[in-house]
Amino acid sequence: MTDRELMSKAKAASMNAYAPYSRFQVGAALECDDGTVFTGCNVENAALGSTICAERTACVKAVSEGHRSFRRLAIYADSENWCTPCGACRQFLTEFSPDIEILCARAGDRYVSYKLSELLPHTFAF
Ligand code: THU
Repeated sequence: MTDRELMSKAKAASMNAYAPYSRFQVGAALECDDGTVFTGCNVENAALGSTICAERTACVKAVSEGHRSFRRLAIYADSENWCTPCGACRQFLTEFSPDIEILCARAGDRYVSYKLSELLPHTFAF
């Protein structure tokens, strides 16, 4: 699958976002080492701290289906800024694939790409 195809899955997933509080809809598409793709969206809650980001939704779906090794993650939000993963999602993804490639989009067709290890160096582990 090309980067653009993965990103279009992330964009489609963003349409399912439940974001009545922030109105900020995010979609993610996580590609496993065997090529399987899991998508996710942000799911907000009136208790705002209970909100789950799109990236963690996709990751939890994958792990709960027996996948623990990932190679690419696409993130899409119809925003002005590149949608990079929040700190909690960086730590969460590092648990499984510290070197995953992360494609971050914003409104339009362009995206930027990072290694997770660039976004979260010197990660916590024990
Ligand atoms: N959000 C994500 O789903 N992923 C990100 O990378 C950044 C933030 C969500 C959480 C919340 O529902 C909304 O965007 C605003 O922070």
